[in-house]
Amino acid sequence: MSTADFVVVANRLPVDRNTDGGGDGEWRRSPGGLVTALEPVMRRTEGAWVGWPGKPDLEFEPFDFDGMHLVPVALSAADVEDYYEGFSNDTIWPLYHDVIAAPRYRRNWWEAYQRVNRRFAEAAAAVAADGGTVWVQDYQLQLVPKMLRDMRPDLTIGYFHHIPFPAYGLYSQLPWRKQVLEGLLGADVIGFQRIADAGNFARAVRRQLRYETKASGIRVPAEGGGHRTALAKAFPISISTDDYIELAQRPDIQARAAEIREDLGNPKTVLLGVDRLDYTKGIRHRLKAFGELIEDGRVSVEDATLVQVASPSRERVESYVQLRDEIELTVARINGDHDTWGHSAIRYMHQAFPREEMVALYLAADIMLVTALRDGMNLVAKEYVASRIDNRGVLVLSEFAGAADELASAVRINPHDIDGMKDAIVRAIEMPAAEQGRRMRALRKRVREHDVEDWSRAFLDALASAARSNSPAHSA
Ligand code: G6P
Repeated sequence: MSTADFVVVANRLPVDRNTDGGGDGEWRRSPGGLVTALEPVMRRTEGAWVGWPGKPDLEFEPFDFDGMHLVPVALSAADVEDYYEGFSNDTIWPLYHDVIAAPRYRRNWWEAYQRVNRRFAEAAAAVAADGGTVWVQDYQLQLVPKMLRDMRPDLTIGYFHHIPFPAYGLYSQLPWRKQVLEGLLGADVIGFQRIADAGNFARAVRRQLRYETKASGIRVPAEGGGHRTALAKAFPISISTDDYIELAQRPDIQARAAEIREDLGNPKTVLLGVDRLDYTKGIRHRLKAFGELIEDGRVSVEDATLVQVASPSRERVESYVQLRDEIELTVARINGDHDTWGHSAIRYMHQAFPREEMVALYLAADIMLVTALRDGMNLVAKEYVASRIDNRGVLVLSEFAGAADELASAVRINPHDIDGMKDAIVRAIEMPAAEQGRRMRALRKRVREHDVEDWSRAFLDALASAARSNSPAHSA
């Protein structure tokens, strides 16, 4: 059997099974940013990627695709319900996003989470070469680092947490809070989006496990006696900035942007929201603010249109079903009250679009509204900025999104403060071109200087040096 020096373990494989035309279907690259981020490393190292093919009961042997070795992990319908929809997305997701929705603590979901995490760990242990490096991704797989270390002490293990890590007062609700911390501490480096997330994690470790922490280092008892140091640190993720710039320069995409504005009835101002349909994104707060601005007469439907793209997500989880109903009711009410024959207050799309169309939308939008109540990073904010090659446009950005730590020149908002958000939107609508340019140039500088390749390089460099200093040769 073939082995790999570098292995990525993520809940999803970087491909989807396309069964549109019926029949057996074929593999298609999935649009996610993580694939783009890791592709160069995967090619360079002939790496393997362990993940779920995205639908229940798909059993496939490992195969090669686009220069990557893919190792599918099959999930049964019950696994999907209890591990993915249940524990991952109805326990951990709401708990880690500050309980915006109420987390449900179900013991059989925890059982499934352990069982499925073990399956991922076993698949990674089987494919990783002696002394290799394994990089585990995100909250669905928090137990994998420790499971893998127990199976394969020779490996160097990294973990990156793409979502927030909550304050201790919330984290401590989790009935399995100790096991999850121990699971994560199986890694040599535990990466977070924000400095605050790494701090919350270190505090939980001190309070729950009584381990010592010093700067970013955590002193973890080692399996064979003694200690090793696990590093918990912020590595803010980014996008492949150049890809967005290239798309934004394409004449056909620029023409498409003009066409979109035309189709919207050429309003003076196009506002845009782009999110997975998720309660963490603050879509309702955004709609409320916009609806009130029209109601108050501060914004006219003839002059401004809000385009809201809400891509379908986790549609069998109850809190998502409810959210969709609420959003669609709100959109229909606002439009019903205010639309004219020629202009709609809100154009709502419950659809996902290819990247080309997204860049055309970014180019068509004068104002981008990112109003998340809590968000690990929010890459849409960075995509918008990267696409604005004309240095125009205004990013309105929630301080509760990780991106706010880096994108200081955005118009910052607290999405809970509806009046403040309304004022910020009006300010964005009225912002003089010179100020837009000043802010946008500063924002673009940041995403140009820190793209997703820098992110993966920084993480993997830290992982390599952590592994060196934890190696027996070094401590001897
Ligand atoms: C967030 C998570 C990812 C997840 C993505 C889409 O960005 O951090 O791990 O893959 O949402 O969610 P889904 O449940 O469809 O994988």
